[in-house]
Amino acid sequence: MEVRPAGRFLRSGKVKDIYENDDDQLVFHFTDRVSAFDVILPTTVPRKGELLCRLGAHFFETLGIPNHMVRTEGADRMVVRKMDMVKVECVVRGYLYGSLMERVARGEVDLPVEKKVLASRLPQPYFDPTTKSDVKDEPITEEEIVAQGRMTREELQEVKRRSFLVYATVGQKASKAGFILADLKLEFGRDRDGDILLGDSIGPDEFRLWPAKSYSPGRSQESYDKQPIRDWLASQGYKAELDAARKSGRPAPVAPSLPGWLVEETARRYAAVYETFSGKKF
Ligand SMILES: Nc1ncnc2c1ncn2[C@@H]1O[C@H](COP(=O)(O)OP(=O)(O)O)[C@@H](O)[C@H]1O
Ligand SMILES: [Mg+2]
Repeated sequence: MEVRPAGRFLRSGKVKDIYENDDDQLVFHFTDRVSAFDVILPTTVPRKGELLCRLGAHFFETLGIPNHMVRTEGADRMVVRKMDMVKVECVVRGYLYGSLMERVARGEVDLPVEKKVLASRLPQPYFDPTTKSDVKDEPITEEEIVAQGRMTREELQEVKRRSFLVYATVGQKASKAGFILADLKLEFGRDRDGDILLGDSIGPDEFRLWPAKSYSPGRSQESYDKQPIRDWLASQGYKAELDAARKSGRPAPVAPSLPGWLVEETARRYAAVYETFSGKKF
């Protein structure tokens, strides 16, 4: 039986359920839900929530960046300071991938890269902020962030500095364990005093992790945590069905339940991610 955290239920994300503790705190409940291609799957992965909660806590405790975490509660809950979130998603990219690749290919961004090869490494990490939206995050320039009052110029510089720092620190850990940290999304907010703190969480839902062994620019890369699920859903014809539904504006079809071996393999991979970054056994 699931123990519901105390407090008023606020909202359910794809993975987290969020409760309000009192005026100043939120409780993040990291569930065992798993999503692929932005669809929540009908099967849960045992202890995934616990892993992501512990991993997020580990980052907040060790990164040395002011953040919103107050404490963890039980195995899969995190109490955080309620903040007024900055309306920007702070994305740092080390590789030409995802929406950045699409924008570069369309000539919308001018990056100092010679060849526009998918998944090639950028000469240096690139700060690629977007708006925060429930529908689709749109790219936003640093000038727009300031002009629209989302952050002051000083706040933006500081947030950018911290974002690069997190990307570098987490990326180094990854590379020591044979992974590539392709990119990372961070969120910041203001506490009651107006100070900017790192918020949300840090984990495989917020970054792309590629196994270094199979890295090869020029094609799409394997996602360490999600690949077996993605491949399986494709092999079942679900991916094609989903693409067709999206193309014609129909709602996503219900995904098939995952077989036991796939749930186990996914759980094993999440445990490996936790061990990679925390250095602790799960
Ligand atoms: N300290 C905080 N105070 C207020 N809102 C926060 C805080 N940290 C994160 N958030 C917000 O909580 C939400 C997390 O939900 P979401 O990302 O949709 O969940 P999931 O990751 O499960 O999909 C985001 O909108 C994020 O901006
Ligand atoms: Mg999220």
